[in-house]
Parts: sequence; structure tokens; C-alpha cells
Amino acid sequence: MKKNRVEEDIYILAIESSCDETAAAVVKNGRQVLSNVISSQIALHTIYGGVVPEIASRKHIEKINQVIEAALAEASLELKDIDAIAVTYGPGLVGALLVGVAEAKAIAYGAGKPLVGVHHIEGHVSANFIEHPDLEPPFVCLIVSGGHTHLVVVKDYGEYEILGRTRDDAAGEAFDKVARAVGLGYPGGPKVDRAAREGNPRTITFPRAKVEGAPYDFSFSGLKSAVLNHINHAKMMGETIHVPDLAASFQCAVVDVLVSHTVEAAKELGYGRVAIAGGVASNSALRAKMKENCEKAGLAFYYPSPIFCTDNAAMIGVAGYYEYINGVCSGWDLNAVPNLKLGER
Ligand code: KG4
Ligand code: ZN
Repeated sequence: MKKNRVEEDIYILAIESSCDETAAAVVKNGRQVLSNVISSQIALHTIYGGVVPEIASRKHIEKINQVIEAALAEASLELKDIDAIAVTYGPGLVGALLVGVAEAKAIAYGAGKPLVGVHHIEGHVSANFIEHPDLEPPFVCLIVSGGHTHLVVVKDYGEYEILGRTRDDAAGEAFDKVARAVGLGYPGGPKVDRAAREGNPRTITFPRAKVEGAPYDFSFSGLKSAVLNHINHAKMMGETIHVPDLAASFQCAVVDVLVSHTVEAAKELGYGRVAIAGGVASNSALRAKMKENCEKAGLAFYYPSPIFCTDNAAMIGVAGYYEYINGVCSGWDLNAVPNLKLGER
């Protein structure tokens, strides 16, 4: 029997398997996370220095049922209590996505529940709704993850205007590459963040790239090359590299550009609220500088807790909820779309 959407509670079971986390969550009424179970494969991929797609898919297959069972148990619910199954269908690693999509389809079909395909990046943006009941669109959002760097206006739930994007490397990718170059290992972002706390960001002046004619676009490949050149030069001269100073100087260059573009966009376009999303949004320097500059500019600043910044299924449940209540559901032909663009269905 169909529930009355206004008066009754709506429970979404969400599944996320786009990269190296096998995750499931139960979200009530779009903003209340009843469970958020994440099985991380980081230790498995660390020895290879990055995510190995085939290993990721195999691990998802092994873990996914346990993770879903745990998410339902933690929420003290059974499948029959769930209103819809939400699943990330792109972008991401195709084999990894397929595990979640096939699982979600099987559960939805078997239990006679609606299926909602969710855009992974929309999930990241939606993570902001979990801990901020007052946050409603429109707002400016900076999305910074391992594969994406986008500056957008969230015009409404599921409706985005892209203001800028990276022309080359994603912010997280730059963190990961620099970490590898100085021997910090994988995943690089959190390790650079930690090392930078002991360093001086003014030791080395790295470039802050601007893209000609596109004030809200980003470019990090020049910065990455400058860091690699610095390391090579130091090696040639027989100098030792002070990793904390290098990490702090690199991080400061990334953060300066991310913050200035975001705050400028909000001011120029007249939006009073700014949010950040994606794995790099858990970076301590980015959070601190964005907070400071938003305060100076009189903008309200929203950011998710670190656990909701990196990949998780709760954020997919939130995005899935808004699709579901707007009547957007997927067919049984839902497939993984590894290169799904923001705003595409
Ligand atoms: O959103 P996410 O978990 O996965 C993708 O959708 O890509 O983001 C992962 C990225 C990685 O590049 C990782 O190094 C970066 O987020 N990251 C960080 C931090 N924590 C994770 N980057 C900078 N500082 C952090 N504290
Ligand atoms: Zn992600």
C-alpha cells in the first residue's frame, strides 16, 4: 500500500559502491541518518598506491550483503519497512558501480520497492542537508573529491547550475599525486593534511592558477608540476625535503584558489550561503579558510562532518529521498554510467 507522502515517515535504504568504500545506510525523511555503515578497502589498496578497480569490485561483491544487513539492523528496521532503494549509478569505476546497481535492483525487484538511481556528486552535495536542517537551496557549493572539482549553484533539490570546473586534475587527485611524490602514500589527502599541520605554508610559493576568461574554473596541473619540479630540484642539489613545509605550502596554494573562487562567486551572484562537499571538504585548512573568508564576506558557511564528506551511503539516501518525493524513480534497465555528468540523468 502506498504511504501518504506528507503525513507518514519515509525510509530510504541507500547503497554506495562507486569507488573503494562498500556502504549502506538508512535515511528517514531525507535528513535523519538512522544508520551509516561503511566497509573501507583502503588498507587493501594502500600496497598498490591507489585504487585497483578489479580488486574494488571483487571486494564490493564480498561485502555488500553484510553491509546492507548491518545498515538495516542498526536502524532497527526490516526491508518491508523501507519505502525505496537508492543506489549510486555514476560516476565512478564501472565494475564497482555495477555491484551496487545490480544489488539494488535485485532487492527492489524482489521486495517490490521503487528503485532510485542517484548521481554520486549530487550525493556529496546532499551530505550538507544531514546536519543542517535549516539549509535549503539555493546556495553555492564547492564540490571537491578525488575525481571532481566543480563550483555550482544548487538552485533546487537535484537542480544545478555549473559555474566552474577543473580543466585538468581534480583537487583530490592533486593531493594524492603530491603525497605519492613525497612518499606519504595513499590516500594522500588526509596524509598531506596531517603533515601540513606541522609545516609553514609560507616556505615555498607555489602558483595559484587562473583560467583566462573563466573566472570560476580551476587548474591544478601547473601546481602539481611545480611541486614535482621543486622535489626534483632539491634531489639534484642533494637537499633534503622538509615534507611538512612542502605539504603546507602546496595545501595553501590549493585552498587559496578554492576559497577565493567560491567566495567571489557567492558575492558576485548574490547568494548568501556557501557549502562544501566531497572528500577534500574534510581538509582542515580548507574548512578553516573558507569559514574565515565567508565570515568576512557575511556569508553563511555549511560543511558536513568528515564522515559525510568522504564516500558514504547516507548522502546517497538524502539525494535519493528528494528524487523519490519528487516522483523520480528508475526503471529496471538502470545501468552503471561511469562518466555521468553533473545535471545529467
Ligand atoms: O569524495 P571521495 O571520498 O571520493 C571520490 O568521490 O573521489 O574523495 C576522495 C578524495 C581523495 O583524493 C582523498 O585524498 C581526498 O578526497 N581527501 C582529502 C582529505 N580527506 C580525503 N584531501 C585533502 N584533505 C583531506 N583531509
Ligand atoms: Zn565521492
